[in-house]
Amino acid sequence: EDFDGEGVWRYADALPVSGSVTIDEGNTPLYEAPGIAADVDVADLRVKHEGMNPTGSFKDRGMTVGVRVAERLGVDRLVCASTGNTSAALAAYGARSNLETLVLLPAGKVAAGKLAQASLHGATILEVDGNFDDCLDIVAELANMGEAYLLNSLNPFRLEGQKTIGLEMLEQFEADTGDWPDRIVLPVGNAGNTAALHKAFRELVEAGAMDDEEVPALTGVQAEGAAPMVEAIENDYEAVRGWDDVETRATAIRIGKPVNAPKALPAIRETGGTAVAVSDDEITDAQRALAEDGIGVEPASAASVAGLRKLRDEGVVADDEQVVCLTTGHLLKDPDAAAAAGSEPTQVPNDVDGVLDVL
Ligand code: F0G
Repeated sequence: EDFDGEGVWRYADALPVSGSVTIDEGNTPLYEAPGIAADVDVADLRVKHEGMNPTGSFKDRGMTVGVRVAERLGVDRLVCASTGNTSAALAAYGARSNLETLVLLPAGKVAAGKLAQASLHGATILEVDGNFDDCLDIVAELANMGEAYLLNSLNPFRLEGQKTIGLEMLEQFEADTGDWPDRIVLPVGNAGNTAALHKAFRELVEAGAMDDEEVPALTGVQAEGAAPMVEAIENDYEAVRGWDDVETRATAIRIGKPVNAPKALPAIRETGGTAVAVSDDEITDAQRALAEDGIGVEPASAASVAGLRKLRDEGVVADDEQVVCLTTGHLLKDPDAAAAAGSEPTQVPNDVDGVLDVL
């Protein structure tokens, strides 16, 4: 088939299907972040910016595989619930494969850029008077009724695509430093990436390409107002207790019932990782710190850096660690949050003197 071997499809051997629904997803940059590195002061710090994917989030890695599977199955309608990014990615990949696309969103809680993407790519958008978890209940039922093919991270083929975040990161980190990272810090909503990265590394171990002790410590970060995974890790719960009421400025991770928790709790525990909750203000501060290093991310993404800062303060992350923070979505996804975190424009008269006056 028209498999081009780039980006996500470079790892075709690790994927369950070959690709044709592709808009060049993956191959995202692994940045140095000098300001943040000086602040957190670990042995090495990199930022893997998944906001540099075609629709501006890591979801594209899952959709290029998941929508390909949908094509193979011959379904005629795709569906997802979303805090925004999944719907943007599904709308784009659904459009690319000429499949009808339906998205259910929590009304009033989806950032402007994401809604605009779903809209322009031609998805049917339904706004539900409820939160993400309610939307997911509805779409899961629609899928069970055979009305549509589900492309949330409950779909294992989505997570197969997202494994490539981990594979690509290892290669890049090794090319830059000659080593692999000790720890990966990532934002957690449904905990799909946590589960996917763990699966990628376990497969490397099973293939004899990585030792068990070399698997990076998976470290999840949630917003304080939506932190059921953190609660489960801190209290040694066997299973996550879902939260009915959730709130955070990081709307992408405004999730109370992380569906991949049964995979993600062992992922965190078996890799020697942990989970930490950060406040909305800590998230915004981290978003500003990333911006000062020239890296533009949406609030949920900045949670990873906020979490690393907190774990350094608490002495959980050691001086000699090599750390990668995952940033999951682009700044332009949530222009309102970015503008609120940034500086106000100054009004000037229409002449050079007016401009010189403010310099
Ligand atoms: N970061 C961003 C920017 C996200 O959009 C999401 C999830 C996450 C992190 C959490 O990832 O589920 O792997 O723990 N967004 C979903 C959506 C829920 O609908 O766009 P996870």
